[in-house]
Amino acid sequence: MSRLAASTAILEEGRLLSQHQAALTLLQASLAIPGIVRLDWLDLACGKGQILAQLDTNLDPTARARISYVGYDLSDDYCRITASRVETLGLQKTRTLVGELQRFSQVLEENEQFDFVTLTNTVHEIEPGALAGILFDCISRLSPTGRLFAYDMEELPTAELGAVPWRRAEIDAIVAALLAGMDVKQYRPASGHWKHKKVSAWNLQVEKTHILAEAPGFATHRARSIAQATVKTHEILSQRLSDCTKTLDTLTRLGFATDAEKSQELSGLYEYWALQRALGKTT
Ligand SMILES: C[S@@+](CC[C@H](N)C(=O)[O-])C[C@H]1O[C@@H](n2cnc3c(N)ncnc32)[C@H](O)[C@@H]1O
Repeated sequence: MSRLAASTAILEEGRLLSQHQAALTLLQASLAIPGIVRLDWLDLACGKGQILAQLDTNLDPTARARISYVGYDLSDDYCRITASRVETLGLQKTRTLVGELQRFSQVLEENEQFDFVTLTNTVHEIEPGALAGILFDCISRLSPTGRLFAYDMEELPTAELGAVPWRRAEIDAIVAALLAGMDVKQYRPASGHWKHKKVSAWNLQVEKTHILAEAPGFATHRARSIAQATVKTHEILSQRLSDCTKTLDTLTRLGFATDAEKSQELSGLYEYWALQRALGKTT
C-alpha cells in the first residue's frame, strides 16, 4: 500500500475543523477523569498536525501536560511539521513515527497501548483491502478503557483519483462484521452522520471496554474477524461498482440533460476507476 498521489494534508493555524473539535472534546473529558496522570494518544495519519491547531487554547496547561502524543504518517515531511508543532504545546511526551498505515501496529513498541486513537479525514485514502486490518489493529492497540475516534467524508469536495469515500451505513456494516468475527454480538459502536455545507460525513467511536466485556479473548480471532470484514468490504464495493456501471451506461446511451447529471458523469468516472482498482480489476 502507498499513498495516493492526490493525498494532501492541510495546515491552517487559525482553523479548527469540526471533526477535530469533536475529537478534542472527547479527549478533554478523558483528561478530566480524577486521578489521571497520563493519557496516551495515537494520531494515525496525522498529516501536518491540523488537529493540534488550537490545542494551546483548547485545553488548559494541566490537561495538556497529561498527554503523551504519538503522530504517525507515511510522509516524512508531514511528520516533521507535526513534530515541530507539538513540541511547543507543553505535552508530557511527544513522538512522531513514519510508516504505512497498514503496518502501524508493527512499528509501535510491542506492548504499547493508547487511551485515545484518532483517524480523521483519511479512510477514503486507505486501500479498501487493508481497511479491516487497520481497524482491527486500532482496537487491539486501545487500552482497556481506550477509545477510537474515526471520521471521514462520504464524498470529497475535490475528487481524488483512486480514493474510496465510504458512507456511514457501509462503515457500520464493515465494523459490525469485524466485531461479529471477534465474537462481539451485542455491542455496536456509536456512529453518526453529519451534513456540512459542501459534503456529508460520518464518525465512529469504538470503546474497548464494551469489546472486552463481551469478548475478552477477541485478539485470538484476528484472522477470522479481518476475513469477515474484508468479505463485507468486497460485497459493498462490488454492489457499488454494479450501480456505478449502470449509471455510466445510462449516461453513455442517453447523455445528460441537467447539470446534476453532468456532475454525476464525472463523479461516476472517478468512482468507477477507484472501485475497479480496489477490486483488483485494473490489469
Ligand atoms: C487528508 S490527510 C488527513 C490528515 C489529518 N488526519 C487531518 O485530519 O487533518 C490524510 C493523511 O493520510 C496520510 N496517509 C495516506 N495514506 C497513507 C498510508 N498508506 N500510510 C500512512 N499514512 C497515509 C497522508 O500522508 C495524509 O497526511
